[in-house]
Amino acid sequence: MLIAGNWKMNMGYQQALSFLLEFNKLVKKEDKDSFIFFPPAPLSLIFEKEKFYWGSQNIYQKIKGALTGENSVQLFKEMGATFCLLGHSERRYIFGETDVDIEKKFSLVQEQALIPVLCIGESLSERFQKNKVLIKKLSWIKQYNKYEKLPFHPEKLPPDFKDLSFIVAYEPLWSIGTGEIPSVSELEDVISLIKEDFPTVKVFYGGSVSLENALSLSCDKLDGFLIGSESVNPHSFYGIYKQIKSC
Ligand code: 13P
Repeated sequence: MLIAGNWKMNMGYQQALSFLLEFNKLVKKEDKDSFIFFPPAPLSLIFEKEKFYWGSQNIYQKIKGALTGENSVQLFKEMGATFCLLGHSERRYIFGETDVDIEKKFSLVQEQALIPVLCIGESLSERFQKNKVLIKKLSWIKQYNKYEKLPFHPEKLPPDFKDLSFIVAYEPLWSIGTGEIPSVSELEDVISLIKEDFPTVKVFYGGSVSLENALSLSCDKLDGFLIGSESVNPHSFYGIYKQIKSC
């Protein structure tokens, strides 16, 4: 399993340097391939010099232009990013991103040879019809996913992740930052639903993953965690990895 940390807007520059100093003391060299970081855009520079996989939290849906305040996927690629988060619920519901925006970004990310990590999830009121909601959020991919598997630089990926063209992160809205988590059977049902249509895709889970619940959430079908608040603390983040590794 891969352990991904979405730092959101919760990390400062000095704080990131201290995090990495501490984290590098905890992680063995051979285990570095097990982590992915999604730092705020300006902190990408720090990751240029680190041996961890990393990605952007967002991109703009064009490569270049007079677009003050936006970031291009090409820039992240040049700096060594491997992944790009797309459609996080905070982007959808705070910034009004639509499926149409996400479709455009998805294609751009693949064309630039980065791996899209597409976030999907249902709200609390949708929980009991979540299959319908999730299927809708995935339906356009068949048209926009240009590749069955990666046509590009697979040496930059963990060995198990070569036969894929995108990753899905299942993040129920009712779980993000609330301490609420789905049952393992709920999680397994969602993973099966996704893999029915996209057999080679990898599926991550995100939403209140912590040292207390990581072990109970990890199941055979799951390929990784996407962790928010617990990922800014090096000991918690590493602790989650250690628990998963030892089971
Ligand atoms: P929390 O782990 O803070 O619930 O956030 C999850 C998330 O949104 C990861 O992308």
